[in-house]
Amino acid sequence: MRLALFASGNGSNVESIIQAIIEGRIDASVACVFSDNPHAYVIERAKKYEIPYFVCSPRQCASRNKWEELILSFLEEQKVDWIILAGFMRIISEPILKRYPRRIINIHPSLLPDFPGKQSIVDVFEAKVKETGVTVHYVDRGIDTGPIIAQEKLSIERNWDLPTLERKIHQIEHQLYPKVIQEVIQKERFNS
Ligand code: GRF
Repeated sequence: MRLALFASGNGSNVESIIQAIIEGRIDASVACVFSDNPHAYVIERAKKYEIPYFVCSPRQCASRNKWEELILSFLEEQKVDWIILAGFMRIISEPILKRYPRRIINIHPSLLPDFPGKQSIVDVFEAKVKETGVTVHYVDRGIDTGPIIAQEKLSIERNWDLPTLERKIHQIEHQLYPKVIQEVIQKERFNS
């Protein structure tokens, strides 16, 4: 199986997936990295591991359709089987969803359906809830709404500040996502 990793920013989850593949914890290969953000640090990570990457913001394209066409032809070229979103900050729309049905997954830093959206860790922190966590789910047309594959809970201690909560969430993500990717891919292999 060939994975495309989509990210808009730092890419720490992308790197944890690459590491899991190198260490044999995910039985797949990284076909490529895609980013919509020319300044994203994830591009440096792709270079470091010599992974083919493509950077294209919708603003560089005449239309959203054109942007999606370019992404799809890059994925085609790289013979991608699965799309793994890891901090990708845009909605995946119909043409890509149709081309990769049930083959696109995302990680989200809350216990969905609670706290969807772009700044969930801050929202969770400000809501002063006692428990949060991480969700991995299939991607559909909505924002953080697709069928849930796995969740891991985290109890929030009263003395934690925001950076502590962020650190704890990322620690969970870096363990959980590679594990779930491997499970989902294995299940798919078994069923096909
Ligand atoms: C992660 O918290 C992920 O759950 C969310 O965006 C963040 C990306 O972090 N979707 P990184 O770029 O992988 O470091």
